[in-house]
Amino acid sequence: MSFRKLKERAKELEEQIKNEVVDNKPIEESTTEKSRKEILLEMKKIGIDRLPYSYSALESFIDKETMYVHYNKHYKGYVDKLNKAIQKRKGSDLDLEQIVKGISRFNNNIRNNAGGAFNHALFWKMLTPKSTRVYGPILRKIKEDFGSYDNFKKEFEKKAKSKFGSGWVWLVITNSDKLKIMTTSNQDNPLMNTIKFGGYPILGLDLWEHAYYLKYRNKRDEYIENFWKVINWPFVNKLFLGRTKDKINEGKFIKEVINEGVSAGCNRKQVNTYRMIFNRNPQVKKKFMYAIMDILKEVFSEYWFEKDEYKKGEMSGVYDFEQSGRSIINKLNTNYTAFCTLVNDINQYLKKVGINPINLVGLDNKQQLDETDRLVRYMTELRYRIFNTESSTFQTVMSGLDRSNKFGDKRELNAVINLKKIFNTKEVFKVGELGGVDDMLGGVDAYVVTPEGDKTMQIKPFNKIEEEDGKITVYGSGNVKPYTVDYLVFHNDRDGTIVFNNNTEIIDGRYVFNSDDRIN
Ligand code: FE2
Repeated sequence: MSFRKLKERAKELEEQIKNEVVDNKPIEESTTEKSRKEILLEMKKIGIDRLPYSYSALESFIDKETMYVHYNKHYKGYVDKLNKAIQKRKGSDLDLEQIVKGISRFNNNIRNNAGGAFNHALFWKMLTPKSTRVYGPILRKIKEDFGSYDNFKKEFEKKAKSKFGSGWVWLVITNSDKLKIMTTSNQDNPLMNTIKFGGYPILGLDLWEHAYYLKYRNKRDEYIENFWKVINWPFVNKLFLGRTKDKINEGKFIKEVINEGVSAGCNRKQVNTYRMIFNRNPQVKKKFMYAIMDILKEVFSEYWFEKDEYKKGEMSGVYDFEQSGRSIINKLNTNYTAFCTLVNDINQYLKKVGINPINLVGLDNKQQLDETDRLVRYMTELRYRIFNTESSTFQTVMSGLDRSNKFGDKRELNAVINLKKIFNTKEVFKVGELGGVDDMLGGVDAYVVTPEGDKTMQIKPFNKIEEEDGKITVYGSGNVKPYTVDYLVFHNDRDGTIVFNNNTEIIDGRYVFNSDDRIN
């Protein structure tokens, strides 16, 4: 039964009991009580993870029959036995990962079955029928810690092949952030607090006979060598980055600065400084480039195309994001202004949380690389906040990439469509549509023709608005500064368009209006 259904049933029962009391009917305590208990038990149960592909999908690695038996008999068996075992215990409504992490509190039966349930649930997701190759943050970390991908592969195979008896081979991240290959016996997992020098598993291979014997018989080595054909590297990257993210405090500060706050932007002097650093220390540029590419590839995965995929002869990158064709966001990886803006905005956050800001100025090459590593780390951790169309940092970076970028254009075009409805007229025009008047009007994005004359508007992005005591505060509006237009317009594609008379106060870097000045 799904969790939601269970909750609904629990609620129904509560109602039933209430009504029975109200109606003064005799309460059939035994049956009601029994159902309640059953529901509570059901809610505590560890669920079965769906197999994310068909039984025959991984045939280059494992046959259909083994997959079927492995999933339906072995894996489900672990989950069932685990559920039976934990139901007998009082107060053990923990999730599986918590049970595994605190396994020393449980007996061997639970240790084996919780491990079995957890290991296999992970294992299914670590495999995929799509052929993916190793890439991104995990590849770089492998190179860093093993010297090369080949070294890593050799060591992984060697450890797997020399594991005696039933168990698993794992790639883990240790507490000191190093990758390590290790094996565990039976159904133990490196996360278990009974495992010495364990770690956080990001890749694992089942070395039990039940996993390969039908197809490979005694040739376990061949099974191990074929594993590389079916590894789900995007998922491994996710585990790897997720682990990194776990460690930082994704508190409200980040939201304030990176997403809802005001981008610090970057001045000309700083841009020149970074240009010099990039030119004198190409390694800095390289590190930054690779990190940006990994982030774009992940965050904009729907828009990401590998070389020749979008069109023959086209480079890899983000396509069709703003409009059709190659996105200007691809310029980000070599752009000094973008680099500088990212450093400045991440520093705003670091200052707030009391971490030393990133600084590359006045350092030797090695120190600059260390600082770039920090930048890359925070940028990766904060990637979904930064590279989010509503974030002030993102908007500043995008407009820095191309003054007349299509991203801003699109937002304004969508806003104009709504403005026509709001003002109930077709005569709303985006400045620039007529050509060449942008500079003359300065700070005006659009205007509406009214009987009293043309009224000018500035169109800004926003995240959310909050109303309190007759005041409305607008969050996430990018570069907050005063304008001389008649209306301030806020638009995002999710919430739509809101128009205010331009009687604004700027408080803490946010536009604040009297509720009366809201037009729609
Ligand atoms: Fe297994």
